[in-house]
Amino acid sequence: MGAWTLDDIPWHSFDRGRLDPELVRIVKAASLVEHNGGAYAHHLCLIFADDPEFQETARRWGEEETQHGVALARWAALADPDFDFAAAFARFREGFRVNFDCDRSRRGSRSGEMVARCVVEIGTSSYYSALRDAAEEPVLREICRRIAADELRHYRLFYQNLDRYLARERLGRWGRLRVALGRVAESEDDELAYAYYAANAADLPYDRRRYSRAYARRAFALYRPQHVERGVAMLLKAIGLTPNGRLGLLLSRLAWHVMQARASRLAKTAA
Ligand SMILES: [Fe+2]
Ligand SMILES: [Fe+2]
Repeated sequence: MGAWTLDDIPWHSFDRGRLDPELVRIVKAASLVEHNGGAYAHHLCLIFADDPEFQETARRWGEEETQHGVALARWAALADPDFDFAAAFARFREGFRVNFDCDRSRRGSRSGEMVARCVVEIGTSSYYSALRDAAEEPVLREICRRIAADELRHYRLFYQNLDRYLARERLGRWGRLRVALGRVAESEDDELAYAYYAANAADLPYDRRRYSRAYARRAFALYRPQHVERGVAMLLKAIGLTPNGRLGLLLSRLAWHVMQARASRLAKTAA
């Protein structure tokens, strides 16, 4: 298990007066995605079948991701007593299916798999840091603070294993960049949109474009330049480039600009 448990969360400090209903909706969606972490840990154990040490790490990681889901779901149920996590999670699993029983990495190599895992942890550590800084409700802030710290630790963990595999496999900077960009592009795929739908709009038919926007509109609004800057530095490090040099500064400004433009476009949609 991780470094904390649900008993470490000060649930009694929950303050309904500081709730932001927009955040409640994205927290519900996040609880479903996080809770699915165990399924990906199973997939990692198949890919790394001959690496028992990493398998152990992956199992522990999966448990921590699941705990993130449990903590977020418990908070969401406090915020909205009508939230039925079990039913929402069942809908999510039913509608968003990925073959986790496969023993080959979609990234083409084990190092590539580690790069993709780093990208996901960069995304989650930035996201929960941004959510922590945007939230006013104290229990949500505390949950996000703990989750963001875990996600950063997960990044370091996959990065260490990336280093280990790079000593055996040849995956240069271009190869790593290709995997990283591919994984970043996948963040636009169905997972988050479907989680948002399954958690918030079960009575309506699924409309990918609509729910993808509904989720992104709320998520993009949370970020501040420091979250983007840190994420870009972590990404550069994972692909083997200097994280804090001029390139990092340039890219984080560019990324911030692109995100701002996207956030303001999305803000005009009422999804
Ligand atoms: Fe997580
Ligand atoms: Fe994580």
